[in-house]
Amino acid sequence: MSDYVTVARDGEIAIVTIDNPPVNALSFHLRQPLHAALEELRDDPSVAGLVLACAGRSFVSGADITEFGTPKALERPSLPDLIATLESFEKPTVAAIHGTALGGGLELSMGCHYRVADASARFGLPEVKLGLLPGAGGTQRLPRLIGPAKALKIIVSGNPVGTKEALADGLLDAVFESDLVANATAFVRAKAKAGEKPLPISQREDRIEAARNDLKRFDAEAATLLKKSRGLDAPARCVQSVRNGLTMPFAEALATEREYFIELLQGDQSKAQRHLFFAQREAAKVEGVDKSVKPRQVKRAGIIGAGTMGGGIAMSFLNGGIPVTILEMSQEALDRGIARIGTTYDISVKRGSLSEEAKQERMALLAGTTDYADLADCDIVIEAVFEEMAVKKDVFGTLDGIVKKGAVLASNTSYLDVNEIAGFTDRPQDVVGMHFFSPANVMKLLEIVRGEKTAPDVLATALDVARRIAKVPVVVGVCHGFVGNRMLAARSAELEDLLLEGATPEQVDKVFTDFGWPMGPFAMGDLAGLDIGWRTRKSLGKTAAIADALCEQGRFGQKTGKGYYIYESGARKPVPDPEVAALIEEKARERGINRREISAEEITERTLYPMINEGAKILQEGIAARAGDVDIVWVNGYGFPVGKGGPMFWAEQEGLAGIVERLEHWHGKTGKDVFEPAALLRQAASGGGRLSGVKTSRAA
Ligand code: CAA
Repeated sequence: MSDYVTVARDGEIAIVTIDNPPVNALSFHLRQPLHAALEELRDDPSVAGLVLACAGRSFVSGADITEFGTPKALERPSLPDLIATLESFEKPTVAAIHGTALGGGLELSMGCHYRVADASARFGLPEVKLGLLPGAGGTQRLPRLIGPAKALKIIVSGNPVGTKEALADGLLDAVFESDLVANATAFVRAKAKAGEKPLPISQREDRIEAARNDLKRFDAEAATLLKKSRGLDAPARCVQSVRNGLTMPFAEALATEREYFIELLQGDQSKAQRHLFFAQREAAKVEGVDKSVKPRQVKRAGIIGAGTMGGGIAMSFLNGGIPVTILEMSQEALDRGIARIGTTYDISVKRGSLSEEAKQERMALLAGTTDYADLADCDIVIEAVFEEMAVKKDVFGTLDGIVKKGAVLASNTSYLDVNEIAGFTDRPQDVVGMHFFSPANVMKLLEIVRGEKTAPDVLATALDVARRIAKVPVVVGVCHGFVGNRMLAARSAELEDLLLEGATPEQVDKVFTDFGWPMGPFAMGDLAGLDIGWRTRKSLGKTAAIADALCEQGRFGQKTGKGYYIYESGARKPVPDPEVAALIEEKARERGINRREISAEEITERTLYPMINEGAKILQEGIAARAGDVDIVWVNGYGFPVGKGGPMFWAEQEGLAGIVERLEHWHGKTGKDVFEPAALLRQAASGGGRLSGVKTSRAA
């Protein structure tokens, strides 16, 4: 008995209850008494069966991630010790699961002979998302329980499954609608009475036999799953470990799994991914919005604009089960927008990621209108109209006159001043920025822009809505481009000059993809459409020698088959174009630039370093509250490689002092502002070399 583990008896059945809030993680202070209790009950002849259950909101949701990187993580009794003890029971054992059984939690449950659960429980091995593999037998026992193909999917994706699937696959033995522990007790009592001697999972061979004789098929399935793993080590290790279970004896495969686990745990990628796990949770904690601030109720959302952005935002709400009224100026544009939403869902149905029934349910939540009056009853209205202040003025002025009191009025602006927008209404306290990223139904990031007068409960509402529609929110202050686009501008500032001075689009893009970005900036420009930037430059009276020349030739990127690259009839693969090379040389000649060899290091220093510098300026100004918030923006909105933990985390690992030194070098050489080191960056570089401790007060 301890604060963390209690043992109760129901006749001959022992009930062990774990209680380690908030998520019953397997901390050392829990492992120790749990191990002692299990050994005692195993050897107690008056005990005929065991129920392993949890108090609080959930079953065990994993190893204690805060212990990783400290000696406690590996101190014995370890999780494998606990599972081995459970497997040594010669009387039936059952895990009674409610909430989530994740990672080490699911592995612990697989030490039992049986698993039963509440109807709403979920099961998963999310270690891969922390740059790890399940390190306590998960890659060995799950395949033995449900077969290698299904296990591989759960392990490599890291995504949990529900009770329906778990029951069908054999992960679960029974589901109970209520009274979980009482039912689990009756379940194990019946097993004990029947005198069953079930095999521990480690000794079961029936589900892996077929795969052992058909490794080719296993390898093919694994290769498909690994396609999405983008330079991360953990998914490949997961696959190898499951495969070891098919080719090695259990004990050897288990020991190898542990070696992989420790190797990954000590590696840079897992460190980065663990940083992101905690940074994401920190980002949801907002100054001035504590638990006492309750979100306003949101039962219906209004979306203004049924274009690509408005449609994507609407889909996010529909996916979250929130009814939407979408508004367009003409019936024709509205019909087109609604049809596009239907077609996008159809693609998911065809791919098998959405059922026809679910599609119908979502479409049934959608209403269209061309009349602002139909938005009167919405609890939140998000505008996704043209990025021009005059247009925003019209929209917010109209909304102010129509929408009910207390509704949240949000702008999806990517650059404009949210304070000015709020000023177009008589209720600036209800106005907030909600900046989605394209395609909005897919991208996870939501920048929530806090205006000067935004009320705390409006921020709480935006955060709550973000959670309901499965977005990752980061609260930011008002400035041109907020966190993401402002840093993107700094990352892009030197691109033209790099080309003029001697680099090629393919060389720059390769530096980016080698770093781990899904695409380089020139391929990205071609995908997004070069005409967008051209139009913006013209409206601001700005020029860009190469980009403008491409657009003047009608080379807008993929949509015209040519941009920085050439795209052969409908293909998406960028192919270098000698005409572009000639154009770049011509523009350099016109400017009297002698083109030279440009190294990969120089490309990195002139793109990523200014971006980090801008991130530091953003922190300095209080536009973002913590360096981790900036990392969350970049990983979830712009494809910054997760294995590198975001720009600010990466910069720390690289060494801030070295980055400052190179920024100074380029600043001295070019005099450009983007290279002038931010005071905060200098300070952090000469102090402890850390940005992550820096906490700023949010701009309001
Ligand atoms: N260890 C330590 N702390 C954890 C934790 C863990 N495994 N899981 C969650 N927490 C903490 C969170 O940091 C958070 O703390 P604060 O309140 O201080 O911010 C708190 O618990 C609540 O977490 P959430 O805000 O995420 O709560 P939620 O209800 O939205 O989600 C959850 C709960 C689904 C369990 C989610 O927290 C989660 O996915 N946790 C991680 C699960 C996981 O990855 N497990 C595998 C761990 S690795 C492992 O087990 C290795 C192995 O094989 C041996």
